Amino acid sequence: MKVFVLRIGHRIPRDNRITTHVCLTARALGADGVYISDVHDQELIDTINSVSKRFGGAFQIDAGRPWRSTINGWKRAGGSVIHLTAYGMPLPKVIDRIRRSPGDKLVVVGAEKVPGDLYELADWNVAVTSQPISEVSALGIFLDWLFEHSRLEASFSNSEIRIVPSEHGKTVLTT
Ligand SMILES: C[S@@+](CC[C@H](N)C(=O)[O-])C[C@H]1O[C@@H](n2cnc3c(N)ncnc32)[C@H](O)[C@@H]1O
Repeated sequence: MKVFVLRIGHRIPRDNRITTHVCLTARALGADGVYISDVHDQELIDTINSVSKRFGGAFQIDAGRPWRSTINGWKRAGGSVIHLTAYGMPLPKVIDRIRRSPGDKLVVVGAEKVPGDLYELADWNVAVTSQPISEVSALGIFLDWLFEHSRLEASFSNSEIRIVPSEHGKTVLTT
């Protein structure tokens, strides 16, 4: 199962930091890549590719395609679409069905108000609590549940540097 994240509504420069954090969280918690919809942000792409080069893995980042065509293409290919929203069904109630469902998963997070038809286009509207929270925390918690915590100690191939867990201080190995 491939898992990609679709980030809708990225505004340059206002969302630079939070969209970077969406991408870093997606990568660290096990997604295969992220699509930034509608706008091309080369600086963001370079930042994420630089992290991936140093910390490893094969994370993909793509930007500029309209969000609707990404979703339609994803569904045509047999994948399903999960929209994270405070208005959706509680994560604990739906996560088993999502995990068992066939096909690749596209996890959608917004920035400001998302287009209304997204709620209909999504196969699942999933709430990480029914309270407004950050898209970064919603995504991190969702992926952690999807992968049943397995990504918390995962390692990445082809890294240039690797953090060695330590009780105090910082240990980094050059590989
Ligand atoms: C800061 S919120 C903005 C929400 C916006 N005010 C609206 O009404 O759609 C940005 C994104 O975070 C995600 N989000 C916020 N709270 C959430 C929650 N409780 N569960 C799941 N996702 C959430 C959604 O993807 C949302 O589009």
